[in-house]
Amino acid sequence: MTDRRRIVLSSDHAAIPLRQAIAAHLAARGCEVVDIGPVTPESTPYPEHGAAAARRVASGDCALGIILCGTGQGIMMAANKVKGIRCGVCSDTFSARMIRQHNDANMLSLGARVLGEGLALEIVDAFLNAEFEGGRHATRVGMIDALEA
Ligand code: RB5
Repeated sequence: MTDRRRIVLSSDHAAIPLRQAIAAHLAARGCEVVDIGPVTPESTPYPEHGAAAARRVASGDCALGIILCGTGQGIMMAANKVKGIRCGVCSDTFSARMIRQHNDANMLSLGARVLGEGLALEIVDAFLNAEFEGGRHATRVGMIDALEA
């Protein structure tokens, strides 16, 4: 089934080739890709790019976001400072599925210096193919969101 969701992508300088591979993969799935860069390889601070992508998701402009830096950690920390964002770093497909099913994650973070392209694309698919299960998990996610109040 074609995936027509609108998905924002961003990274810092450490992850441009992997981000571009993910953009092509998302387009092949049928997604509307909003790739907000950067495109040139100069050093650029990951907090700016994580926050910019997170704001696209938090505003409702994009359904989900995928962000990358060297480890995936710094850009995830920045994204999670934006109200309404639940972003996890994943280096395996199980975690990528579970952060959707149990945590209703709306952003995925990847480490370009951690993952090869093949595994990264499988992690992206695991994230996008999973659905939030609701129920008792909704109560717990609500508790996370309440911490922002
Ligand atoms: C940049 O050198 C690096 O610190 C960044 O990509 C990321 O790994 C930070 O968490």
